[in-house]
Amino acid sequence: MLKTFSFALVLLACPFIAFAQNLAIRFEPGAKVFRLDGGGVSYVFGVNTRGELQQLYWGGRLGAADNFSQASPMPEWASFDSSYNNTPQEYAGWGAGLFNEPALKVSFADGNRDLVLHYESHTETSHGFDVVLKDISRPIFVTLHYAMDAENGILARSATIENRGSDAVTVEQAAAAAWALPAGHYTLNYLTGRWAGEWNLNQETVHPGARVIESRRGSTGHQANPWFAIQSGEADEDHGEVWFGALGWSGSWRITVEQDQLDEVRVTGGFNPFDFGYVLKAREKLETPIFYGGYAEDGLGGASRLLHGFELKHILPRTQTTAGQAMPKPRPVIYNSWEATEFRVSEAGQMELAEKAAALGIDRFVMDDGWFGQRKNDLAGLGDWYVNQEKFPNGLKPLIDKVHSLGMDFGLWVEPEMVNPDSDLYRAHPDWVLHFAGQPETEQRHQLVLNLARQDVREYVFGFLDKILTENDIAFLKWDYNRNWSEPGWDQLPPAEQKRVYVEFTQSLYGILAELRKKHPRVEIESCSGGGGRVDLGILRYTDEVWPSDNTDPFDRLTMQDGFSYAYTPQIMMAWVTDSPHWLNERATSLTYRMLSSMQGSLGIGANIANWTPEEASTAKRLIAAYHQVQPTIVQGALYRLISPRDGSEFSATQTVRADKGQSVVFAFIHSTQTGHSFPTLKLKGLDPAAEYALSSIEGKARAGTPAMASGAWWMNHGLEFDGGFRGDFQAMAFRLDRK
Ligand code: GLA
Repeated sequence: MLKTFSFALVLLACPFIAFAQNLAIRFEPGAKVFRLDGGGVSYVFGVNTRGELQQLYWGGRLGAADNFSQASPMPEWASFDSSYNNTPQEYAGWGAGLFNEPALKVSFADGNRDLVLHYESHTETSHGFDVVLKDISRPIFVTLHYAMDAENGILARSATIENRGSDAVTVEQAAAAAWALPAGHYTLNYLTGRWAGEWNLNQETVHPGARVIESRRGSTGHQANPWFAIQSGEADEDHGEVWFGALGWSGSWRITVEQDQLDEVRVTGGFNPFDFGYVLKAREKLETPIFYGGYAEDGLGGASRLLHGFELKHILPRTQTTAGQAMPKPRPVIYNSWEATEFRVSEAGQMELAEKAAALGIDRFVMDDGWFGQRKNDLAGLGDWYVNQEKFPNGLKPLIDKVHSLGMDFGLWVEPEMVNPDSDLYRAHPDWVLHFAGQPETEQRHQLVLNLARQDVREYVFGFLDKILTENDIAFLKWDYNRNWSEPGWDQLPPAEQKRVYVEFTQSLYGILAELRKKHPRVEIESCSGGGGRVDLGILRYTDEVWPSDNTDPFDRLTMQDGFSYAYTPQIMMAWVTDSPHWLNERATSLTYRMLSSMQGSLGIGANIANWTPEEASTAKRLIAAYHQVQPTIVQGALYRLISPRDGSEFSATQTVRADKGQSVVFAFIHSTQTGHSFPTLKLKGLDPAAEYALSSIEGKARAGTPAMASGAWWMNHGLEFDGGFRGDFQAMAFRLDRK
């Protein structure tokens, strides 16, 4: 029963809008083995002789004729380590003496908490399987969804948990998926941070026990990101096996990486079980988020290139103008006024900035916080989404018209899920916020979180956003979210059901975003949460870009951008050039250095350009024009991290190569030259060795004698050398190569 897809599939309900080639889906009824092959990857699992669903293989693609026997459970190690515990199950219920991380834990109404899931049935879908498991005695059904991407073998896994009984059950823990790795020695990579310090890459040996990466905050969080990559002992940036995954969920989440007593490594991820308790009434279902997982045999670089391509082609939304296209369009170069004016926005001030921005070659003008309600600072106004009459006496239209007349489109900042206690909205609806009745409401940045899970709140939020977008010609919303949860009560519901807020808040957010995009199909949206607090593959299905950090220091950004790139494509990585010295570190850097740092991602300008000298304006204008020419290569090409800026590195460099290998862009940065070191020769990657490439400078000089044209083999083997004068503190150069 081998099924190979070689035709184009467009499936809106499926996580992939895919051109499926190279995908093989197979079920062997005799051995009860399920096999998925896509790209360079095979994923195999089967029904074991006890009836459990057991993982058999995840790694490089196997031969089409290779067969697996029926899965047999792992043997018991001792009376303390049962076979049930040792067997890598696809989705283990907590029962039968399981001490490892369960995928699912439930409490039944009668106090029974034993859940043992056995295979029941399956169906083949366009990209994989839906496999139904059932508890051995109770009518709890779990449908595991598997969908593999044909091109790169990334597997999307999720679960639907259904109560077909007549009594309610409480789901106390529900993963999207559990992944098992072959026995071996591994290094775990994961991303952590804080406000203004996101995207630190951590690399540590996987030891016995569990490493938990999580958010308990009600949203994705700055502190950890729902992504992991586990490399085998020998692997590095360019070589070796890497298993990676990313969870598509913007609420509280948890990923547990566990090495058990037999040295087996498993990764389980989904809803965070902390304070979780989802009551499933009779015939109700709970859908988990999707946990995406992939495998690369060319190191961490290979893993991130697979993930970038997958995000571009299958996760990021399309607008009316890009519907049906393989790739979303590169982001417009934006101007944002936040660092220039903060809350002091006005019609005249914004118009002046818009004129300056247009002269630089900016595509999109974005007005940030301060334009609505009684918003003079962060003490008041959130929730009151009417235009402030003092600042914009004639509404937004004159400003938007002006921006359009200058050849730019217009974007606006909103923070829809929040309310200041000092607002008309809170005065009218104090019960709309997350709270526990009678308890103090903890403010952060003087604001409270609206309970988006409530139908009335959802209608209000959708209503005002729809109105703003209907009444104004707005191309873009910067959607902010400037605090995490406290007192997550939902007192409209009976006490036992209030914890549904952990699921339904986020589902409601996704629902609002989806509805808005449907009704306003030209509008693009940025996910911002005080910087990079809400970046994950869940929100990215509804948003076109993210704001990685409020920290715009160009030197700090190099390390953040490096960390970010392990999990997310540069396409979505907005990077503004702001003023020097920088407000956070008081570090002074040249405009050229700042520009090149931001040009590694999706460029924007966030400086007070009203104060720029003519020389600064002309530098920015020249580099914006150069960026426009190569932007698709930078943000959608294959990224090679040639020299990492991490760990105090003196140098750093990246290279991106367009999919057809026709163009490449190289960025090189010096932190601080020491003892006269020269910049290392960069051996480029990913070019066509036989093709001829012309080198041209975007900024800076190659070493005297560097050929203007040479083969891909020359650039990759001999390498690119830099001018001897490339020394000093915070220096940068950039080059492009174009195939002749
Ligand atoms: C957050 C964002 C900033 C800016 C401010 C406005 O901190 O990350 O970019 O929009 O809010 O209040």
